[in-house]
Amino acid sequence: MSPRINFNRSVIIKCDHQMIPAQSLDLSLYGMKIKNHPLDNCDNKNVEITFETDSIISLKGKMLSYRPGHSVVLFKESPEKIADTVGSFITKKIYEGKVCPYCKEKLQNREKICPKCSMCLDFTSPDVIKILKDFKIGKVIEKLTGTEKEKIEKGLEENKEMIGTSESMRKVFQLIRKFAPTDYPVLIIGETGTGKELTARAIHERSNRSSKPFVVVNCAAIPHDLLEAELFGYEKGAFTGADRRRIGKIEHANGGTLFLDEIGDMPYDLQSKILRFLQEFTFERIGSNETISADVRIIAATNVDLDEAVQNGTFRRDLYYRLSVLTIKLPPLRERGEDPVIMAKYFVERYSKELGKNIKGLTSDAIEVIRDHPWPGNVRELINTIRKAVVLTDKEYIDVEDLDLKIKNSSNGNENGYDVLNLKKNIEDLEKRLLKEAFIIAKGNVSKIAKLLGISRPKVYKLMEKYGVGEIIE
Ligand SMILES: Nc1ncnc2c1ncn2[C@@H]1O[C@H](COP(=O)(O)OP(=O)(O)OP(=O)(O)O)[C@@H](O)[C@H]1O
Ligand SMILES: [Mg+2]
Repeated sequence: MSPRINFNRSVIIKCDHQMIPAQSLDLSLYGMKIKNHPLDNCDNKNVEITFETDSIISLKGKMLSYRPGHSVVLFKESPEKIADTVGSFITKKIYEGKVCPYCKEKLQNREKICPKCSMCLDFTSPDVIKILKDFKIGKVIEKLTGTEKEKIEKGLEENKEMIGTSESMRKVFQLIRKFAPTDYPVLIIGETGTGKELTARAIHERSNRSSKPFVVVNCAAIPHDLLEAELFGYEKGAFTGADRRRIGKIEHANGGTLFLDEIGDMPYDLQSKILRFLQEFTFERIGSNETISADVRIIAATNVDLDEAVQNGTFRRDLYYRLSVLTIKLPPLRERGEDPVIMAKYFVERYSKELGKNIKGLTSDAIEVIRDHPWPGNVRELINTIRKAVVLTDKEYIDVEDLDLKIKNSSNGNENGYDVLNLKKNIEDLEKRLLKEAFIIAKGNVSKIAKLLGISRPKVYKLMEKYGVGEIIE
């Protein structure tokens, strides 16, 4: 496997006969990560990248952008050239660092192979590079390990089709299990595609209503003036066009669960009728005076901030209080640790099997792109991305190109409109800055850093690795 070294330098990218200055992030035998470059026109094009190590190096490659302002240049050069240039430089850095980049074993005498983990440490020979290339190590195929698979399958069974191994999702599963057997309403909050409907179904299926209907009403998809009829039903002649009695969704859901999706879009007047139903479990069909009772559990979901809607007067405070006693907040995919990667591997296997293809996994470059992508469309976006890649690829592994993961830039064409608001990026920048400051104050003492930052030591190690703080080699 190729080590990746932090490589924070100015580089020049030649694309379409233009010389464009850019900033690199890191370097491996397969390519270089680039940030903040005005190179959107170079996406998917052949380029030449020039940078300085101990000498000036120019390498041909292909530019692939994986989020606005962030790209990789994948080197397209012979093993001889890679060994002579990047290979020599990485090898030199490993020996200077005196630790194995894979297992962190201390190195004494420029060993070619790590005495502890047996990984290659010397990349100056074209033969080594050729072997790496032949074995597609630039394309290291990553797939689910046995344990990961076991975990997912066990999870799928326990969590009703929901995958999640991150701490934040484990908490969600706990809440689902706790809330399911009660008959109280549940409010599910989450960005689009985070699995709100799936969560509602999981609650229903784990409740003692599971043999009864699970009925979905999307409050945003139904025109406001029809929503009341949809929910409560109507009598013949109740309004023009009501030529027969119609049972509403509440009655359909009797004994089971009614899932009110996008509840934030429910008209204000109707909110009081739903509140009454939640309090008394009775209602009247439109055009009737007969009071009907129904045994229905309500689960509601929203991707808007209901708190704010209450402040703005568009959502009833009393309904909000009633609904939000039991709340599940689904974290966006970008805040679920390794979940995007694990899910990607899982869905590659699943769709490959379903489509009768023989795809062995994803390349390590693809995995990195998946890890870095902010997934604004969350799990839905991830599933669609993988499904499309599996359908379209002719290769044995899914590579960066197959993922086609580009986020369209904001309309003014620069990345600022995107990055300024990007919560993940802002949090990461802050995290990195504080970590660096703590590192300097604590002179690299991890226990001290942990104390200063108020986090655990394992978390410090994780962040150091994530941001490359305190080490040359990741
Ligand atoms: N944890 C998960 N594991 C596996 N699949 C998931 C998970 N979460 C969501 N999905 C899948 O992702 C897709 C989107 O999920 P779902 O429709 O429940 O999201 P949502 O939050 O209701 O989205 P929206 O706000 O757009 O309605 C579905 O295909 C669902 O099966
Ligand atoms: Mg939904």
